[in-house]
Amino acid sequence: MISATEKLIVALDVPSAEAAALLAEKLRGHVGMYKVGSELFTAEGPVLARYLVAMREKVFLDLKFHDIPNTVRAAAREAAQIGVSLVNVHASGGRKMMEAALEGARSASHGHDAARTHVLAVTVLTSLSAQDLDEMGITGTPEEAVVRLARLAQSAGLDGVVASAREIAAIRRACGPQFLIVTPGIRPVTAASNDQARIATPGAAIEAGADFLVVGRPITEAADPAAAADAIAAEMEKAMSARMGVS
Ligand code: C5P
Repeated sequence: MISATEKLIVALDVPSAEAAALLAEKLRGHVGMYKVGSELFTAEGPVLARYLVAMREKVFLDLKFHDIPNTVRAAAREAAQIGVSLVNVHASGGRKMMEAALEGARSASHGHDAARTHVLAVTVLTSLSAQDLDEMGITGTPEEAVVRLARLAQSAGLDGVVASAREIAAIRRACGPQFLIVTPGIRPVTAASNDQARIATPGAAIEAGADFLVVGRPITEAADPAAAADAIAAEMEKAMSARMGVS
């Protein structure tokens, strides 16, 4: 079974490759994956992702591709060529775009299934309210939109979704136990919520059924990032044992 540490993804939301590499060094062995997002990628390009892969670390390339299928196919192929473990696209790009992302990722992935680049969908950005969705012409409640897009992503063959803790139960019900759910917006009880609105503790997110947790500032801004990651993993571990007990 995969350990709590392996399920912990740290968001390297820093503006330089140097700062990210320093942080990654401190966190080696204390987290299972490193997330490279728009800020770091726009500042430094694929350098850091390549560096981490060369260090045999796992990388989640969080660039949320959303473009015509041909462009997304090529971008996903490049991501797989770097050797990242996870890459994501917006489900609202539609079925053909998601299928193209999968084709691109598969065309460049090598090795056995677990080592290939998995493709996730972002359903509805957690920053969007019911009113925002209404303005955009998206019908139903936010949860209905999330489930509709998660189902579409699954039927296009994607490996899973990025979803807030409060969406996990509905997605699990709709998409079953094999569909990966990666959950950001995690705050240990003692941490500040920063700008996250739909937050959950690490334990609660695991209990709800998340496969991986994405944690940024509670780790990256801690005085001792490795100790902060260990404390979060310990809380996850407790929830994992409790889940095993009931299943
Ligand atoms: O610092 P914090 O723990 O809030 O970082 C969360 C990370 O997860 C950020 O990189 C953010 O972009 C990402 N994320 C999120 N909410 C989503 C999707 C991604 O916070 N719905």
